[in-house]
Amino acid sequence: MAFAKLALGSLVAAAGALASSSSTDVVQTTVCNGQTFTYDSMVAWGFIHGRAVDNYGDTISFGSSVSLDRPSLKITHTTSGLLNYSATVYNLPDRGWNTMGTTNFEPRVYKYHIDFQPAPGGSFSPNIQWTLEDTIILTDPFGNPLTGFDCDTTLEFPGFPDIPAATFEGDGWGEMGGMASSVRVCLDPESINLVNGKGEDGFWITDEYGPYMYRFNSRGMMVQAIRPVDALIPIRNGTQQFSADAPRLNSGEDDDVIPANPTSGRNNNQGFEGGSLSPTGKYLYSLLQSATIQDGGSDKTTNRYTRLFRYDITNVNFPKLVGEWVVPLPMYNDPTKKPKNNPRTAAQSELYALSDTRFLVLSRDSSFGHGQDESASNYRQVDTFDISKATNIYNVEKYNKIGGAVAPDGKLDGAITPAIYCPFLNVNLNSQLNKFAGGLHNGGAQDWRLLNEKWEGIALFPADGAYGADGRFYVLITSDDDFITTQGHVNFGRRKYRDTSGFNLDNQALIFLITLPQDVNPFKYYPVGAAAK
Ligand SMILES: *[C@@H]1O[C@H](CO)[C@@H](O)[C@H](O)[C@H]1NC(C)=O
Ligand SMILES: *[C@@H]1O[C@H](CO)[C@@H](O)[C@H](O)[C@H]1NC(C)=O
Repeated sequence: MAFAKLALGSLVAAAGALASSSSTDVVQTTVCNGQTFTYDSMVAWGFIHGRAVDNYGDTISFGSSVSLDRPSLKITHTTSGLLNYSATVYNLPDRGWNTMGTTNFEPRVYKYHIDFQPAPGGSFSPNIQWTLEDTIILTDPFGNPLTGFDCDTTLEFPGFPDIPAATFEGDGWGEMGGMASSVRVCLDPESINLVNGKGEDGFWITDEYGPYMYRFNSRGMMVQAIRPVDALIPIRNGTQQFSADAPRLNSGEDDDVIPANPTSGRNNNQGFEGGSLSPTGKYLYSLLQSATIQDGGSDKTTNRYTRLFRYDITNVNFPKLVGEWVVPLPMYNDPTKKPKNNPRTAAQSELYALSDTRFLVLSRDSSFGHGQDESASNYRQVDTFDISKATNIYNVEKYNKIGGAVAPDGKLDGAITPAIYCPFLNVNLNSQLNKFAGGLHNGGAQDWRLLNEKWEGIALFPADGAYGADGRFYVLITSDDDFITTQGHVNFGRRKYRDTSGFNLDNQALIFLITLPQDVNPFKYYPVGAAAK
C-alpha cells in the first residue's frame, strides 16, 4: 500500500491545471452579516506517513493544530513556472496515542518546513511537502516534562493558578525501576498560536483537561497559565476535579473517576479545542468544543451553545477577561442514529480570528472517515461566525459562577443574543477532492485516499505573500490521525505499539483558496515574509 503513495520527489503533475479555473468559477459563497466569503477552489494536498517518527523516535500525529511562522513565508517559482510557497509552521500533536487509553506521552510541538504549489486544476502527486525540522518537548515552569495521562490532582507553581496534574508510578510505561511516584502537569493540547506570529517569541496552547490556556517560551517551557471562569471548571462531588474520565492504557477500567461526568463545567474531552490570537495580538480567544455540562453538554442533541472568551493580554502578565459570547454550533443529521438522536451538534475543533468580530471555525461530525465503521462524513466544514451583534456576558455573575448556565438543557437564555454562525467551506465535496491524488474522497472505500475522521488545524497564508490586501488566502487544514498505526513507537522510541483497529492512518493535509470579505485584515499587524520586520 505504501509504495502507491508516490515519491515526494515527483511534483505537481497536473498539466494545464491553472487554465481550468477562472475567477467566476467559484465552488461556494456565503454571506455572513452582510459580507461575502468565497471558497474559490481546493488547490493542494499532502501527507506524512502514519508511521513517521519525530526527533525523539516517537510516532508523529501532527494535526491537532497548526500555526504559520509569518516571517518565514517566501514565494518562488518552480522550474515549470508554478508558484511555490514555503514556510515554517508549528504543528501540535494531541495528548498521545490514546485509542486504548491515555499514556505518559510527553506533550510536544513539531516545527515543520512546508512547501506547496497551488494547483486549482488538481494534482496527482502531493503538492504540499512536509519536512520535520525540530521537536520541542514541553515542560512545566520548573523544567519538568508534562504528561498525556488523565488528571487526578493539581500542582502549585509560584505565580500560577492551581495547575491540573496526574500522578503515576515508575516511568508510567509499566517499568517501576525503583522510581518513586511522580506528579506531572497533565495536558490535552488542542490549539497552538505563535506570539507575534513568530515561533521565536513563544506560543499559546489551549488545553481541554482544565480547560486552561498556557503560554510557553520558544524552548517549550511554560511561563504562564490562565484559569477559565468558574462555570467551566469541572466539578465532581462539589469540588474541582480535572479528570476527563479517560482511563489509562492497560488499566482495565471503563471509568477512572466517579461520577464519570462533572456536574458543572466543561464536558469530558470537550475543552478549549479552539484558541486564537487576535490579528493585533492584543487579545487571546478561546472557544469550548461544545456546551458546558450545565448548558446541555452531556447530549449531542442539546450541546450546541458553546462559549467564546476574549482575554486582553496587552499586559501579558496580567491577562484580563473582557469578553464572552455564546456561539451556536451547526447541527447535522447522522443517518446511523435514530430520529430522537438527531439532529446533532457538529462540535468545533479549531478557531482562527480574522478580526475582533469575525472568526473561522472548523466544525465537524465524528465517527466517520478512514478507520471508522462508516466512511462518509456528513459535516466537515471551515465555517465563519460574527460576534458584532452578540451579547457580551463576561461580567454576568449568574452565567460565570459554578453551575452558571447560558442554555439550561440546551435552551438558550432569552436575554442572550448569540453570534451569527454561517456555514462556509465544505471540505467533503468530492468534486474538489477527486482532483487530487487520483481521487481523494469522502465516503466510499476504506483506502488511503479516504479522508480521516478528525480535522483540527487551520492556518492561513496570504496569497500575495505580504498583507493579503486583495483578500485572497490559502487555508491549510490538518487532520489528527490519533496516532493510529500498526507500526507505532512510544516512550522515546523504546516501545512499539500496534493500534488494535489494524488501521494505518496518515497525517493528511489539504489547502483551499478562499476570498475573505473586506472588513477583515488578519495580516495587517503581523504580515508575512519580506513584509514582516
Ligand atoms: C519551493 O521552495 C523551496 C524553498 O525555496 C525549495 O526548497 C523547494 O525545492 C521548492 N519547490 C519546488 C517544487 O520548486
Ligand atoms: C465522589 O463521591 C463518591 C461517593 O462517595 C466516591 O465514590 C467518589 O470516589 C468521589 N469522587 C471523587 C472524584 O472524589
